[in-house]
Amino acid sequence: MNLLATRIDLDAIAHNTRLLKDLVGDVLLMAVVKADAYGHGAARVAQVMAEHGADRFGVATLQEAISLREAGITKPILAWIWSPQEDVAEALALNIRLGVPSLAHAQALVDAAVPARVSVKVDTGLHRSGVDEADWEQVFTLLRDAEHLTVTGVFSHLACADEPDNPMNDEQAQALERAITLARSLGLEVPENHLCNSPGTLTRPDLHHELVRVGLAMYGLTPIPGVDPGLKPALSWISRILVVKPVRAGESTSYNHTWTADEDGWLAVVPAGYADGVPRAWQGQLQVGIGGKLYPQVGRVCMDQIVVSLGQNEFGVQAGDEAVLFGEGGMSATELAEATGTINYEIICRPTGRTVREYEGGIDL
Ligand SMILES: Cc1ncc(COP(=O)(O)O)c(C=O)c1O
Repeated sequence: MNLLATRIDLDAIAHNTRLLKDLVGDVLLMAVVKADAYGHGAARVAQVMAEHGADRFGVATLQEAISLREAGITKPILAWIWSPQEDVAEALALNIRLGVPSLAHAQALVDAAVPARVSVKVDTGLHRSGVDEADWEQVFTLLRDAEHLTVTGVFSHLACADEPDNPMNDEQAQALERAITLARSLGLEVPENHLCNSPGTLTRPDLHHELVRVGLAMYGLTPIPGVDPGLKPALSWISRILVVKPVRAGESTSYNHTWTADEDGWLAVVPAGYADGVPRAWQGQLQVGIGGKLYPQVGRVCMDQIVVSLGQNEFGVQAGDEAVLFGEGGMSATELAEATGTINYEIICRPTGRTVREYEGGIDL
């Protein structure tokens, strides 16, 4: 029995993959499984995604890409965070495609003299990584003239896709069009170009190009409240109550006695703390789901434990009962994000420390 686990519903992953693939039609679906598939465990969920309609995989680092290949993923994998000083030989030997976000990256691949498929990541307004417009021609020409390199496409990342009315979305779309036109005018075929992340995919079918790069929605969450084609959240974070104990009016709990009972009642102790990814700052914002009801976390979050107020414990909560930190039976990741001043992306990446993964489902539906 695990005292602290993320429970991952592989049927929900399969459902979301099919739903998104249907939604984009003939467009290629790249499942973004960086950061260990947003905490869901890339090796396992990528298999399910591959079976249910993902055409490509996207990751950040070379090591993430290599691990996916080692897990048996044979579909094309694109990695976009790497350093020109890094040794890319192992990744290229595994047929991993690389994003090229600067002139120095392009030069490193030219110098490596190893066959590779590459996509040029152009900066269209995010002003993070991506080749600046002033360098597009030089980078396209350099890559075109290297016989060992094949440029599969041009891509970019939206800065404000979760604000569908933001004019920046159209500005970036136009800039990507300029990059594609320039690449083609220089003789590059660029058959697979892409711009859309989850919010772009859900709200801007006109910007899908040949491929969409979808992360958050694959895991069943929407980046834009109210925009949800029927996604199923796949991950719940679940602990088990260690003890249920009485508290008297006027008694306080946990470090510094920041919470005091105003009437006689019951407390539950749950073995999840800041070492496991429950931030101290969640104090007073987290509601824990027990038996389908929400109970307030009270007092300081400790390294290994939190305390939950059961009030009069009218539903008979006992030691051993499941306590849902977020997910099915508790606050949704989106509700917890709203309560704690962050986004659901960060919430699903929280579970760490002693949390173990438990998988459910995964049989063909
Ligand atoms: C370059 C790139 N593409 C796609 C994604 C997927 O974004 P989302 O999770 O919003 O679908 C990310 C994640 O941040 C990213 O960095």
